[in-house]
Amino acid sequence: MEFQNRCIFLVSLLSLALLGTLNAFKLVDSDSMTHHRITTAAILNITADVCKALAQQEGRDFVLAEDSLSVQNLSEACLFTDSVKAFQTAITVISGRNAWVDLRHALDEEYHFDDESFVRGRRLITRGLAAAKANIKQKNYQAAQLAVGEILHTLQDFYSHSNWVELGNRIAFSTLIRADLNFDNIADINTPTCRNCEGDNCDNNILETVIAEKKITSGYFSLTSSSKPNGKCSHGSSLDRTSKTEPRGGINKDAVDSEHGSLHAQAAQVAVTASSQLLQDIRGAAGDADFLRFLGISRSSTSSGVVLCFVIDTSSGTAGVLAELKRLAASVVSNVSDKPDVYILVPFNETSHGPLKKTSDSDEFLSEINSLSASGAGNSSEPRQSLSGLLLALAEAPSSSEIFVFTSGPPGDSHLESTLTALIENTKSAVNFLLTNLSSVQSGDLYRTLARVSGGQAIEITEQEFNQTLTIVTDALKSAQATLLQVVRNPGAPETFAFTVDASVRTLLVYVTGDSLTFTIISASGVGQRSRESVGRLGTIQKVGNFQTVRLTSPLQTGQWRININSARPYTLKAIGESTIDFFFDFVEVIQHPQPGFTVLNSRPQTGGNASLSVSVTGGSSVKVTEVTLSQVSGTDTVAGAVEQTATGDYLVTLSRLPEGAFSLQLKGENSSSSRASDMLFQRQSSTQLRTSAVAVTAQESGDWRPGSNLTVNFTVATANNAGKTVAIRPTNNRGFAMSYPSSLTLGSGGQAEDKGTIFAPADTPSGTAVTLVIEAVAPSGTDFNYVVMRLAVTAEETDVTPPECESVTVNANCTRNCTLRTWNFTAVVSDGRQGSGVGRVSVREARGTLNTTSLPGAGGFNVTLASFSTSCCSEEVVLVAADGVGNVGTCLIRSGGGGGGHTVSLLLPLWVSMVGLTLVKALHGS
Ligand SMILES: *[C@@H]1O[C@H](CO)[C@@H](O)[C@H](O)[C@H]1NC(C)=O
Ligand SMILES: *[C@@H]1O[C@H](CO)[C@@H](O)[C@H](O)[C@H]1NC(C)=O
Ligand SMILES: *[C@@H]1O[C@H](CO)[C@@H](O)[C@H](O)[C@H]1NC(C)=O
Ligand SMILES: *[C@@H]1O[C@H](CO)[C@@H](O)[C@H](O)[C@H]1NC(C)=O
Ligand SMILES: *[C@@H]1O[C@H](CO)[C@@H](O)[C@H](O)[C@H]1NC(C)=O
Ligand SMILES: *[C@@H]1O[C@H](CO)[C@@H](O)[C@H](O)[C@H]1NC(C)=O
Repeated sequence: MEFQNRCIFLVSLLSLALLGTLNAFKLVDSDSMTHHRITTAAILNITADVCKALAQQEGRDFVLAEDSLSVQNLSEACLFTDSVKAFQTAITVISGRNAWVDLRHALDEEYHFDDESFVRGRRLITRGLAAAKANIKQKNYQAAQLAVGEILHTLQDFYSHSNWVELGNRIAFSTLIRADLNFDNIADINTPTCRNCEGDNCDNNILETVIAEKKITSGYFSLTSSSKPNGKCSHGSSLDRTSKTEPRGGINKDAVDSEHGSLHAQAAQVAVTASSQLLQDIRGAAGDADFLRFLGISRSSTSSGVVLCFVIDTSSGTAGVLAELKRLAASVVSNVSDKPDVYILVPFNETSHGPLKKTSDSDEFLSEINSLSASGAGNSSEPRQSLSGLLLALAEAPSSSEIFVFTSGPPGDSHLESTLTALIENTKSAVNFLLTNLSSVQSGDLYRTLARVSGGQAIEITEQEFNQTLTIVTDALKSAQATLLQVVRNPGAPETFAFTVDASVRTLLVYVTGDSLTFTIISASGVGQRSRESVGRLGTIQKVGNFQTVRLTSPLQTGQWRININSARPYTLKAIGESTIDFFFDFVEVIQHPQPGFTVLNSRPQTGGNASLSVSVTGGSSVKVTEVTLSQVSGTDTVAGAVEQTATGDYLVTLSRLPEGAFSLQLKGENSSSSRASDMLFQRQSSTQLRTSAVAVTAQESGDWRPGSNLTVNFTVATANNAGKTVAIRPTNNRGFAMSYPSSLTLGSGGQAEDKGTIFAPADTPSGTAVTLVIEAVAPSGTDFNYVVMRLAVTAEETDVTPPECESVTVNANCTRNCTLRTWNFTAVVSDGRQGSGVGRVSVREARGTLNTTSLPGAGGFNVTLASFSTSCCSEEVVLVAADGVGNVGTCLIRSGGGGGGHTVSLLLPLWVSMVGLTLVKALHGS
């Protein structure tokens, strides 16, 4: 029931031929478009549009290296090379959630516009669109990505499953994203729409009356029943039983070989346009900067996309450390080379934790930190709510963040260990602990464990050493850092480790954490430096507490480096480099039916089974992944995967089994843009430790979640050979919302059980609030657990669905001669109507100039916005974009009138008919 894949170009054919894995899962070898490709094309298109507009405002040219749009050439043209990885991740999240609709809502007709479910299908879209806008307003970008991925699926299916394209339409149907427009001319239940297909020919099975009256219809679909209303079209395909009864055949355009496959390309093209339009509408509500952040993009001119996240102990007895910490925070903010985009702060003490503070303003962050105070001179060995504080941070920070926890005492909430582990595995964020004045070694054990599984450091320092920790924090916050090697040894033993430094690595840092250890680092050409040489031939070595940083001098020698560690105590080793080549990955669930695709697994993969990984690598089209292996962290078992390229930079890796215990992922590849063959090879590694589980957990929420109401979450657990035994259930959320759920489930004969729980959002929850819910299920043995991490959002009912309008426009233009020497201007009154939520953001597109807005009382007794704009006569038209308080977006096109010569001209032109938020402009002057 979906768009399929199309093998574009030689690249795909070539890669398949090179890899020789033609029998593996194929995402690239069909002639049709998939949801993934449609979604990616739309995201690249809108991003290019935004970037063009920004370039215009900044007075730059927008130049793409190649004609076609790709993540890489867009990032260069748009100056966001540091956030390529986050952008690519956003595309993966959106596209993965799009595919997820086929997994979780395969047979729910409104998700696919099957069975003429137009009104319900549109409701899904407009509801999700409002939710996404509310999420972005709250800076909950991941929640917004998920909402958008979901509704793009339904939107795209409209063009394949309805007769829109058969009616001759080649533009998007904007009614689908506008709750305020009448959705009429739908063929009602009594209107026959199809006749039987003639043999193989199915091109003309839609009735002429339907076409002539421009009635909208869609195909009926069922796997189980052949019945459908009289005379109705079917979806078609071998799976659809309804297509076997009269009128036989189908109308879907999912693939080139579908019943209406001859229109597949047209349908897919309109689906791309419609998807861009939906994104354009979100852009209007969010503004360009936040819209780009929603797509993971921070442009280097403003910030780096890095998040600074501090979780801070304010228990009694921490006054001294807190004073040091305030100094540290101030130095970090003024010294960090890549300005953080978001600052997150979570305080905790013996009796409470939070609230979490999130801001984009460094001064606000510092003043929040400076307002913290330790509650007294108590006993610093008292347990504290450090892990609860960390949980808030992990749930809020974007994936792959570096989080810092500062504490001076043991955790009082160690029951959260498994929940934190779940969030670490799910977000792949690294947790670094700075431990001061710990009263015993044991009190830091859990911190060390969490640091280890996340690939972070547990650094033990004295209060006096605090002033040496600045570089530890600023180093971790550099953008575009990739892990080359990560090793954990517990217990420790002397060992030599090798790692490859490729030509793309601009800086290299090696971290060694552990007590009483010495090491020697040896460059590719055999030059060595010992740990006690703080300044040596290779670089400098800084030691703070149990943590040593080797800062290698650039330019770096490429080739194989070694480090020889001598220690009998536990230690960790990590080599990181600034490089354009990095990667991210997820365990995925591969969907073969109805059409191929995959969606991210928010759980541990199954013990004893096979598994699939989606791997994306940044660095451009010259970068190829050749090898992906999973290796035990403390053991020798290694499993190599079958690597198949699915698109430029994207791979699907299939593994016949997974290692036991904790394992990590290593990736090797070639960068063909290197000049020397010996520099072509690169290696990267995941810093997060991964695990399998013998328990399977799935969960599914139902319906809207409004402030003041419960959300019902159904979940299933399964584990083989355990019938009759019980599985403990443990849900946790990051908002402190009340939950009601069974504490355990008894497994049925198949080793399975299902039940449901509820989570309550208080009435004062702001619309757009993102909630992370982790449901854990503990195996009967008690030693193994699995989880499902759910990203949910609370959204208020949309009461205002009407966009603002331009009520009157006055144009002053006399653009007769050389346009570069002359300007024109206009004044527009923008109103959201009496019932509206009020005019919010107003902006202009397609022109440079100064926009002034003022809010004033309007004639109707409510406030309107007066917008005035002046621009060069060379810009003949301006698009004025106005969003209201809840994100409904209206636009109007205003023209200078070209060579018109009139003193004051009022020009009132509707924007292209399919444009979102089409608004007719009424005249003040001249009417
Ligand atoms: C995006 O798509 C629109 C409509 O299909 C097109 O007019 C526009 O040129 C595209 N933008 C870019 C940058 O390709
Ligand atoms: C912990 O912090 C909370 C909130 O700031 C405060 O009310 C409480 O008194 C503190 N507890 C202790 C033991 O200092
Ligand atoms: C850190 O503070 C100590 C005294 O508390 C001082 O001796 C040392 O020089 C300081 N180091 C730095 C790098 O500022
Ligand atoms: C949740 O389970 C109930 C039965 O307990 C079922 O009626 C409902 O459809 C399920 N909801 C979802 C979204 O699966
Ligand atoms: C939410 O669910 C809880 C537990 O089932 C119940 O006690 C409460 O009344 C529900 N609240 C609302 C507003 O439905
Ligand atoms: C427009 O500008 C030209 C050149 O400055 C001038 O001659 C003409 O009178 C102007 N027309 C009006 C209507 O102001």
